[in-house]
Amino acid sequence: MDVVVLVSGRGSNLRAICSAIDVGTCAAHVVGVVSDRKKAAALEFADARGIPTRVVSLRKGDDRDAWNESLAADVAELKPDLIVLAGFMRVLGSPLLERFPGRIINVHPALLPSFPGHSGPQDALDGGVRISGCTVHIVDAGVDTGPILAQAAVPVLADDTADTLHARIQAHEHRLLPIVIHQIAIGAITLDPLTVSTAVADPSQSLSVPDA
Ligand code: GAR
Repeated sequence: MDVVVLVSGRGSNLRAICSAIDVGTCAAHVVGVVSDRKKAAALEFADARGIPTRVVSLRKGDDRDAWNESLAADVAELKPDLIVLAGFMRVLGSPLLERFPGRIINVHPALLPSFPGHSGPQDALDGGVRISGCTVHIVDAGVDTGPILAQAAVPVLADDTADTLHARIQAHEHRLLPIVIHQIAIGAITLDPLTVSTAVADPSQSLSVPDA
């Protein structure tokens, strides 16, 4: 299954996907990495690995519709079976959503539908929850909405900061995201383009996958 990964930052989830592919636990091939930020560290990793990269920047004042069209065109050129948002901090517009209906997934550092948006870990702390975690879901037109495929729970500790909580959540993201991609690749999760309905990932499988 050919995957295009969309990134905006560090790319630790991209690395986790590639590590899982390398050790044979994720039956996918990363055919491209696309970023909205030229300086995203994820691009350096992709370059070093020989994965084709594209940058589709969006600056203040830019035409958002044009950006959405360019993003969709660049991603489509890479001919993905699945698009994975791994720390891509933009809301997708209809050009990409309509070209790949039900074939875009996202990882988010909170237990959705709680705490969507850019600051999931901080919002969980502010909300006073004792358990947070991460969610992998199908992308629709909303912000971190769309059918949930898999989640992992992470306790919130008394002395947590947003950074310490996010770091522990990311360790789970790094296991869960490659598992979900693998399950889609082998047909254990089906993504229905018409209804965007899904089968739910079996969380017990996460225990058998080595750390990325
Ligand atoms: C991840 O924790 C991901 O869940 C989050 O950005 C981080 C990117 O890390 N995404 C969101 O908050 C989306 N709403 P990475 O660049 O190291 O993979």
